[in-house]
Amino acid sequence: MKKNWRCIVVLLSLSFLSVKAEEGMWLPYLIIEKEADMQNLGMQISAEEIYNNDDISLKDAVVRFGRGCTGMMISGAGLLMTNHHCGYRQIQALSSLENNYLEEGFWAQNTSDELPCDGLSVTFLISTYEVTDEVLAVIDNDLNQKERRRLIRKNKQKITEEAEAGTHYKAEIKSFFNDNQYFLFIYEIFEDVRLVGAPPRNIGKYGGDTDNWMWPRHTGDFALFRVYADENNKPAAYTPENVPYTPRKHLQINLAGVNHNDFTFVYGFPGRTNQYATSYEIDIIKNVQNPISIKMRDIRLDIIREAMNESDEVHIKYAAKQASIANGWKKWIGENRGLRRLRTLDMKREKETAFTAWATENPQRNKKYGGLMTAYEQIFDERRPAVRDFRYLMEAAFGSEVIRFAYSYLNLLTLSADKPREGDKIEAMVDGLKDAAESHFRNYDYKTDKNLFAQTMKAYYESFSHEGAPEVLQKVVKRRHFSFEDYANQVYENSIFTCPERLYDFLDNYKTRHRRRILRDPAFKLAQSIYTHYYEQTYPLLVKHNNMLDSLNRIFMQGLMEWQNERHFYPDANGTLRITYGRVLPYKPADAVSYDYYTSIEGIFQKALTTKDDYQVHPRLRDLYLERDFGPYTKNQTLPVCFIAANHTSGGNSGSPVFNAYGQLVGINFDRNWEGTMSDIHYDPVQGRNISVDVRYILFIIDKFAGAGHLLKEMDIIHH
Ligand code: ARG
Ligand code: GLU
Repeated sequence: MKKNWRCIVVLLSLSFLSVKAEEGMWLPYLIIEKEADMQNLGMQISAEEIYNNDDISLKDAVVRFGRGCTGMMISGAGLLMTNHHCGYRQIQALSSLENNYLEEGFWAQNTSDELPCDGLSVTFLISTYEVTDEVLAVIDNDLNQKERRRLIRKNKQKITEEAEAGTHYKAEIKSFFNDNQYFLFIYEIFEDVRLVGAPPRNIGKYGGDTDNWMWPRHTGDFALFRVYADENNKPAAYTPENVPYTPRKHLQINLAGVNHNDFTFVYGFPGRTNQYATSYEIDIIKNVQNPISIKMRDIRLDIIREAMNESDEVHIKYAAKQASIANGWKKWIGENRGLRRLRTLDMKREKETAFTAWATENPQRNKKYGGLMTAYEQIFDERRPAVRDFRYLMEAAFGSEVIRFAYSYLNLLTLSADKPREGDKIEAMVDGLKDAAESHFRNYDYKTDKNLFAQTMKAYYESFSHEGAPEVLQKVVKRRHFSFEDYANQVYENSIFTCPERLYDFLDNYKTRHRRRILRDPAFKLAQSIYTHYYEQTYPLLVKHNNMLDSLNRIFMQGLMEWQNERHFYPDANGTLRITYGRVLPYKPADAVSYDYYTSIEGIFQKALTTKDDYQVHPRLRDLYLERDFGPYTKNQTLPVCFIAANHTSGGNSGSPVFNAYGQLVGINFDRNWEGTMSDIHYDPVQGRNISVDVRYILFIIDKFAGAGHLLKEMDIIHH
């Protein structure tokens, strides 16, 4: 009897461990520490093949794409693959009503067709070093946070300058575990990146916002680009003479796909997570930040949706903005739901009580950690209203674009041609403002922005008690028969910031005596009042708390590690390259419901039985489906489309390669499931899944749908 009981305990803790093993986003430089665990789950390669500072490894084929995504090299001639939604802004910028690549897709027939993407960069990680001792050199633990930060900044600057000296590389130091550890990253950045191929909307964005953050999924979320270099294979600004870049490494693609329980790992650049935040912080995210953001985005999305439906031109202009507003909106709804389901706040509170009890057990610990929770509580009580105001500022006051745009003219006011030497500066600034205006108005619609202004400004005003609102707003609402619609009309009719012709005319003839025109401008006046209100009432509190929290978080992290000294901690995402691994697993989202681990083209045609626009199928895809000519890209006599696995990913992991046990490409990560959207705060191994496009669906689209077989010839494809 006793013996049996022991067995059960051992079994339970083993299964607990094997599930737990799949949480975490690990630093590639230290992946050797996870090698055994990964091999236990089925990995057939070594840690050195995944990451190596001194030799070629898989990491040399993984890139940061733009600022917020990941991508990978898939040919020896600089061919890059990422998600369609990662290239969305670029595809939009290259689209017009005549050449609507967003809607119709784009396929270059040869390199001379490839389209340069203004402002897009691709970043390779060259090497990583731990620099904790150097960064913290001469830092005394009793220093106040401000002085500490100043010294750390100085140390960091010295280290990065030395690292960059004599190279064309960019060095960056990032803090890990809340300023307890520091790593130096050496990057090489390419700036000539061209669009090679993109599927049409009803493949690349199939399912649209209806299916976003959801499984089962049928999105062909991929796009192809090419990295260009100078004749020495070095980064260079765009010129027609640049040539395709030869990467150190490009990926092998395996057509065998994945099966239930297969080991996978994901290599990419997750942006930001909050795994170790206290209940006080999570409470504010869940109960202040998310609800306000969701409510304000409801308002904005309604207006934008209507405007996009009314006009194709507005549709192109607002496509990327809409996608990004809707993406956050839906994620926060899912996140709050997940936090409720997992009872995250209760769980955190219980843990914090246990932590404090542990701390008070011994006088030394008590001195260091005993008062932490009380300190957090006090700060967050005071911080709550400031966070609230800040959210309304970001999501309501900035809900129309005119506020931030108008305020960017403040700098012009500070310069005066009467002062010697400022004349040149003014000229340069006016040139800069012209460029900014051009990019602002490119994706701007007067009527839509005005409607946004009326609705979000009303919500912003109502977020204050009447005497609490910014002065200009208080004044205007006192007018007789006031309505926000009339106010919006008046602002948009009279401001120079709402109409491109008026603004260009103003800039073309700018003299310093025209400064008054800015000062009297109704949009500028309102913007200034809103900013002043923020800088006086909210910002000082936020900064004060940030400083205090930086220091508390650093100490709390030390305490957690001391308290749970058996646990292998992983650092929160911070925009650096990470590896996460886990098995291909189905899941049960709800009572009596099971989800399979992969989808197929059959599902696309089931969804298409509805009349929803998001589910309409491209006629050519329908033909191919009816012919059932899936080439070598099949699974169980059909065409696989997407699959899920228990990899702990986050925003920024879009476009990440998903590897099989041999380090060969089997998919591209592009989303998380609805039941797992809270994983930036609380990862759930039972229901949390990352969603990937099956590489076979991608190759099918390139090959059979687009007829771009010439691209496949560049790739390294393993047939089964
Ligand atoms: N949810 C995915 C991510 O966070 C995809 C977003 C793009 N798709 C969309 N329908 N907005 O980026
Ligand atoms: N779609 C997200 C991105 O663009 C990845 C999904 C996630 O947040 O896990 O990074």
